[in-house]
Amino acid sequence: MVTNLNKIAVLLIILVVVTVGAQAITGTGAHRSSVKFQDSYNVTWSPAYVNLLNEGLTVQLLLNQSSGSGFVSCNKYVFGYFSMQIKLPGNDSAGTVTTYYLSSDELTNKHDELDFEFLGNRSGQPYIVQTNVFAQGIGGREQRIYLWFDPSADFHSYSFLWNQNTIIFLVDDVPIRIFKNNTSLGIPYPSSQPMRLYGSLWNGEDWATRGGLEKTNWTQAPFVASYRNFLVDSSSIASQNSSLHDLWWNRSRFQALNKNQTVKLRWVYQNYLVYDYCTDRARYPVFPSECAVNM
Ligand SMILES: *[C@@H]1O[C@H](CO)[C@@H](O)[C@H](O)[C@H]1NC(C)=O
Ligand SMILES: *[C@@H]1O[C@H](CO)[C@@H](O)[C@H](O)[C@H]1NC(C)=O
Ligand SMILES: *[C@@H]1O[C@H](CO)[C@@H](O)[C@H](O)[C@H]1NC(C)=O
Ligand SMILES: *[C@@H]1O[C@H](CO)[C@@H](O)[C@H](O)[C@H]1NC(C)=O
Ligand SMILES: *[C@@H]1O[C@H](CO)[C@@H](O)[C@H](O)[C@H]1NC(C)=O
Ligand SMILES: *[C@@H]1O[C@H](CO)[C@@H](O)[C@H](O)[C@H]1NC(C)=O
Ligand SMILES: *[C@@H]1O[C@H](CO)[C@@H](O)[C@H](O)[C@H]1NC(C)=O
Ligand SMILES: *[C@@H]1O[C@H](CO)[C@@H](O)[C@H](O)[C@H]1NC(C)=O
Ligand SMILES: *[C@@H]1O[C@H](CO)[C@@H](O)[C@H](O)[C@H]1NC(C)=O
Ligand SMILES: *[C@@H]1O[C@H](CO)[C@@H](O)[C@H](O)[C@H]1NC(C)=O
Repeated sequence: MVTNLNKIAVLLIILVVVTVGAQAITGTGAHRSSVKFQDSYNVTWSPAYVNLLNEGLTVQLLLNQSSGSGFVSCNKYVFGYFSMQIKLPGNDSAGTVTTYYLSSDELTNKHDELDFEFLGNRSGQPYIVQTNVFAQGIGGREQRIYLWFDPSADFHSYSFLWNQNTIIFLVDDVPIRIFKNNTSLGIPYPSSQPMRLYGSLWNGEDWATRGGLEKTNWTQAPFVASYRNFLVDSSSIASQNSSLHDLWWNRSRFQALNKNQTVKLRWVYQNYLVYDYCTDRARYPVFPSECAVNM
């Protein structure tokens, strides 16, 4: 009898753990509204190289030898959940750089920035996703991973969850990076400077692919990067008065990674990590102190 009760208790516990652990970031109340590009974003670079499809539910950025293109959100944000689905240039994309990032005012030399940069490759060779975190103008925190799928074959979600305790970079709900606010380390944490959301496609052949060895093949142009599902769940500047406690991305379970997410992050690091500034002793002879806690 006791054994049976214990078994039931164990089963219940497993059930609870599985249910809580399986809660995907996006299954939490984020309303995936159909935001039209033109209502929330502005083209800031080469309008002739930007195509709106489906009345603006999808936007295509083009790159050829004359120009790349880019856009920016009209609103600025402090904290929130930011997500887009992106389909990267396919086939021979070496030299191209597709970006999706948050940045505060570039004019200050103490800006904050959170980056996804997608570095193209020769046909059949893997893309690299480079992430970086700038706080108070200090960056140099590059990490690079391969993906577990072909990012040019279909749309995938790339997201930032940013609250006062943690910044999580996600690919399809898989955390690929975390940056914690740990005041005891004395490291600045992005928190006070409002950021805008950016997207762009440009020619980075000087450095992007195998360190610049592989140049852009212009016979493949125009290169096309497609973006859709322009989801932002945040307190924009205009609504900063609203009660932040109600915002799902600030609830306690989003202040750190749960066990399942930690397991996934380790899986990414063990299988897909290409480069990590934390272990680059030539560049950082002194171990960056935040590296000890961002895992
Ligand atoms: C972790 O998440 C994955 C993907 O959502 C799911 O398949 C798995 O069952 C989860 N594991 C646990 C222990 O919750
Ligand atoms: C690049 O694309 C633009 C816009 O479609 C076009 O006007 C221009 O001629 C193209 N340049 C090259 C070098 O193909
Ligand atoms: C886009 O920028 C223009 C001028 O730079 C501005 O007038 C317009 O309001 C912006 N669009 C949106 C949707 O904010
Ligand atoms: C790759 O090239 C093939 C053949 O030119 C073309 O049909 C296909 O649309 C290209 N795929 C992408 C993702 O650009
Ligand atoms: C970082 O966390 C501390 C509590 O540990 C909090 O007091 C502080 O406001 C947070 N900093 C930022 C920049 O959000
Ligand atoms: C901050 O880092 C120290 C070790 O460097 C650790 O003991 C502490 O638990 C961390 N605090 C938070 C809030 O993560
Ligand atoms: C491109 O492919 C080469 C060869 O597989 C690989 O070394 C490199 O990391 C790949 N990605 C980039 C962006 O260079
Ligand atoms: C560039 O692409 C063209 C067309 O696919 C191909 O014939 C050529 O070999 C490529 N050049 C390089 C340097 O890969
Ligand atoms: C925020 O609240 C203050 C004080 O209650 C009010 O004066 C201000 O107009 C509000 N701002 C916005 C953007 O609602
Ligand atoms: C997040 O929640 C904490 C704890 O409930 C609260 O102190 C803080 O003001 C909230 N901050 C934001 C930015 O939502």
